[in-house]
Amino acid sequence: MANCVTIVGIQWGDEGKGKVTDLLACSADLVVRYQGGANAGHTIVADGRKFILHQIPSGIFNPRVQCVIGPFVVVDPETLITELNELRLASVIVQPDRLIISSAAHAVMPYHKALDRVREQALGSGKIGTTGRGIGPAYEDLVARHGIRMSDLLDRDRLSKRLELVLRERNALLSHYGEKPLSLEEVLSSCLAWGNVIKPYLKDAGAVISTALEKGSKVLFESAQGTLLDVLHGTYPFVTSSLTTAPAAFPLTGVGIPKEAVVVGVMKAYTTRVGGGPFPTEQNDALGQYLREKGGEYGSTTGRPRRCGWLDLPLLRYAVRVNGVNVLAVMKLDVLSGLDRIPVCTAYQSKLGELREVHPEQLLDATMKPVFEFLPGWNNVLEHVSDISGLPEEARFYIKYVEDALMCPVGIVSVGPERHQTILYKDPWSV
Ligand code: IMP
Repeated sequence: MANCVTIVGIQWGDEGKGKVTDLLACSADLVVRYQGGANAGHTIVADGRKFILHQIPSGIFNPRVQCVIGPFVVVDPETLITELNELRLASVIVQPDRLIISSAAHAVMPYHKALDRVREQALGSGKIGTTGRGIGPAYEDLVARHGIRMSDLLDRDRLSKRLELVLRERNALLSHYGEKPLSLEEVLSSCLAWGNVIKPYLKDAGAVISTALEKGSKVLFESAQGTLLDVLHGTYPFVTSSLTTAPAAFPLTGVGIPKEAVVVGVMKAYTTRVGGGPFPTEQNDALGQYLREKGGEYGSTTGRPRRCGWLDLPLLRYAVRVNGVNVLAVMKLDVLSGLDRIPVCTAYQSKLGELREVHPEQLLDATMKPVFEFLPGWNNVLEHVSDISGLPEEARFYIKYVEDALMCPVGIVSVGPERHQTILYKDPWSV
């Protein structure tokens, strides 16, 4: 029995990780967010109410769970404080013993958001299609050793000296793009105000997680975005700026590799993507529009329509391998109900012959063509199915097909947005 489970998206994000976290957090003691920032939007429907969390781990809805934001998360203090207030209004208790924020996590600053926006404008048709949340510039500063950490927000002198240095360079860049420079005094006073609110939550997150793992407590690591958006392993340069894969959870939070760790790979029963970059199984037609409307495929952070297409098994094989996935969660199976037949990309036709697994870099070669197989569809409505045997034969065949193709068992199937519309038949905590 594992006491450490990592939830990872194995497509381009928006796979439904928030729902799986919410489900598995019922048995967890600690839920840890380990990368990304307010670019993520985890949608949870609890007791008929819909919440979209960008910064706080979705485990917060379980009152006996402690939530941790690790040091490699870029924290947007404004978004964090808004979420804290919204949760309180909904009577979700968020005391400092329930939410721990790494004092080493970096802050997303106003100049990061401004730069993200103007750079995207300057890129024109070559833009990445970022969420505009300042993620890229914040990670740049982290690596360039110019970043402002959570603990800096508590120390006026240190903060003022650091901001003076950073702003000199960032303002020069903003002026280059024709933007107004930011005032040191204004940024400083916002930072100190944020620091005041955030101070009680700051701790050494790595120590909290390591102690929990040593004690045998159940720790759930929750990733944001998806494997194909990983800055190293994704469809570069059309990626986010963090490491999104499951094995990264440990070095990024400051804990050693646990003895037993299970990885849950979360995928939709079809594929979506927001922003630019290759997407060979995309359906830019009525079928794509059908998936978008039926699946409510609009970004939870930006409201942008998501690009929609069919399942891509060669890319999924790659993502299962990169993450070391042990159990799959197939989400939004209900969206496929009503189709006569369901196309699935099983391989790519390339100059090298037929490829059954592809590296995202190979997608830059426009001569690569997806090869489709057509699986039988079903008409039944799935929303009330609570058991895997209650699924129509064709839907069960679809699941089995995915398992065989990816050589990995499916343990969770989602048939609707509500918490109870999830069939959990191989519990990752029991693997
Ligand atoms: P950034 O993370 O805002 O810099 O955006 C970089 C790319 O990642 C863009 O294509 C975004 O649409 C995509 N992206 C970032 N966060 C998410 C997410 O949570 N879901 C889906 N796509 C995302």
